[in-house]
Amino acid sequence: MLGQSLFVLASAALALGSPVEKRDVTCRSPIPDPPLPITGGATELPPVPDNLELKVIALGLGIQNYTCASVGASPVSTGALAMFYDISLLYPESGPNALTIEKFNQLPAFALNHHEIPLHFNDSTVGRVSIEGPGASLKRPFTRATPLDLGEYGSLPFLGRHFFNSDGAPTFVLQRGSINVVAAKKASVPAPGSADPGPAGTGAVAWLALDANANSRGASLVYRVETAGGNSHGCAQAAGQDSTSYSAQYWFYGPK
Ligand SMILES: *[C@@H]1O[C@H](CO)[C@@H](O)[C@H](O)[C@H]1NC(C)=O
Ligand SMILES: *[C@@H]1O[C@H](CO)[C@@H](O)[C@H](O)[C@H]1NC(C)=O
Repeated sequence: MLGQSLFVLASAALALGSPVEKRDVTCRSPIPDPPLPITGGATELPPVPDNLELKVIALGLGIQNYTCASVGASPVSTGALAMFYDISLLYPESGPNALTIEKFNQLPAFALNHHEIPLHFNDSTVGRVSIEGPGASLKRPFTRATPLDLGEYGSLPFLGRHFFNSDGAPTFVLQRGSINVVAAKKASVPAPGSADPGPAGTGAVAWLALDANANSRGASLVYRVETAGGNSHGCAQAAGQDSTSYSAQYWFYGPK
């Protein structure tokens, strides 16, 4: 996608017939998609198939939800809620505001540690594992579709929302529904040891590959990478519901 839009620009320049631009274009093929980040661990997420191209890179900022059946039980994931912002044009060499790859990869950790979570929280502590992990409002969890002001990183355009549907499947509604994906986990690898553990110090959630189901629109494969925070507070203190703030990059791929 990112390469293709440059290619379209180049083609437009060719149509204008300037000899300088023409020389540029004839020997340049579309710029390949940026490479998917790798953890550097023993196993990596499955590679992007050749027939897919990158559609958009999102920054997700939200919460991971868990249940503790009893004190001492293992926390069970019950989904996530997150607001998504478009960071495609911050990728190195993608535009006037592009970042270095180091700063780009640090976006989730920076957002998680420098911005409040853009959700409506429920401050009731009834049935909660810890007061440090409030849940979202059940009535109206999401905030308005406004840009995320990230200080030195600038203002990130609103892209969409991520939640789990009534069947418990991860769902992404982006660009007013032009990307509408219900997905299932295809692969998971631990976040690198250097990943930001989040404000509560619980550790970063795994990196994932998610396959879109057949009714999805706009993307067929989603990767969650460069995660920060989000692991459970654990069940040592109490039974009940728990939430942990997290951030991550989400890379959306679809047919070329
Ligand atoms: C936890 O996440 C699930 C999945 O998106 C959502 O349905 C539920 O309302 C959330 N609960 C709280 C308390 O945040
Ligand atoms: C807030 O949490 C309490 C306790 O779980 C629940 O009874 C109430 O419905 C929640 N309110 C909203 C708006 O989510």
